[in-house]
Amino acid sequence: MSTISIIFTALFYISLFIFIVGVGRKIHQFWTTPVPLKIPTAPTPLTQTGVVFKMIREVTLFESLFRSNKWIWLFGFLFHFGLLLVLVRHLRYFIPGDLPEVFLLIQPFKYAAFAMVIGLSGLLIRRIAVERIRYISAPSDYLMLLMLIIIGVSGMIMTFTSNHTDIVMVKNFASGLIVFNWSDLPTEVHFLVHLFLVFVLLAIFPISKLLHVPGIFFSPTLNQVDNARSKRHISSWALKQEKEQVTKLEQTIGKDD
Ligand code: HEM
Ligand code: HEM
Repeated sequence: MSTISIIFTALFYISLFIFIVGVGRKIHQFWTTPVPLKIPTAPTPLTQTGVVFKMIREVTLFESLFRSNKWIWLFGFLFHFGLLLVLVRHLRYFIPGDLPEVFLLIQPFKYAAFAMVIGLSGLLIRRIAVERIRYISAPSDYLMLLMLIIIGVSGMIMTFTSNHTDIVMVKNFASGLIVFNWSDLPTEVHFLVHLFLVFVLLAIFPISKLLHVPGIFFSPTLNQVDNARSKRHISSWALKQEKEQVTKLEQTIGKDD
């Protein structure tokens, strides 16, 4: 194997390791953080089933963003939906051996790259053009958008211009990473940039705003049932404290007797 292939193979496993451990730790942290108050935002579902449906609408349609700002919704939705289709199409590189026939049907998903990049460009222009948003934007906000745009554009260069890359080689390389049967990768600059930025994205995922992906499921304003009037809300640590106090009180009363 060439030196560059060895470096990229190593980078894949390093970034994947950081991603899995980092996101795993964050999920554990989100899971164990106390939620002392009932704070669901209106319109609030009164049942657990209602919460599940609200969450599904939020994740698939960005419902609350739609209500608050139509432009951000439009660009945000174009980007995320485009990204989803692009990633589904990318599965063909990672599945070892022959592909299921369904991959022939999803060939047109490649055009989702345009939705993705147009959405990202809209979000970037908004950050630069709207003064209020520019004021609250940190360098990492720009970095994320720029990295995703470069990944998208370098991908589109391979797909839609004559600068194609050797797809069979990409498939052997990517599926080889999964089954530990490593092989060389193509070395065109735009492909290496594409891949390198994907690895960087994976590695910084656990310390970046991309944590909104697992985070959305732990947001108390979204995942709580509005039943504070019918059921007393008490977090687990408060319940423990209360039990300890009751036991203490009972012991004191017992002594007095
Ligand atoms: C469960 C899946 C996901 C959901 C529900 C989701 C939802 C959202 C929402 C609601 C926003 C806020 C838009 C705004 O108010 O500015 C957002 C922003 C963003 N999302 Fe996601 N997202 C998901 C997955 C992803 C993934 C996989 C990536 C990238 C790899 C990503 C990258 C971004 C970026 C970069 C922004 C910031 C846009 C900006 O700076 O204006 N998201 N996401
Ligand atoms: C290890 C992971 C990845 C590999 C090996 C890879 C490889 C490739 C290759 C070889 C192409 C050209 C396809 C063709 O000529 O038909 C491509 C296209 C593309 N890639 Fe990736 N990519 C990876 C991850 C990603 C990620 C995470 C994103 C998005 C954030 C992305 C976005 C795109 C886009 C938008 C295109 C153009 C549209 C398309 O062909 O579907 N890639 N990628």
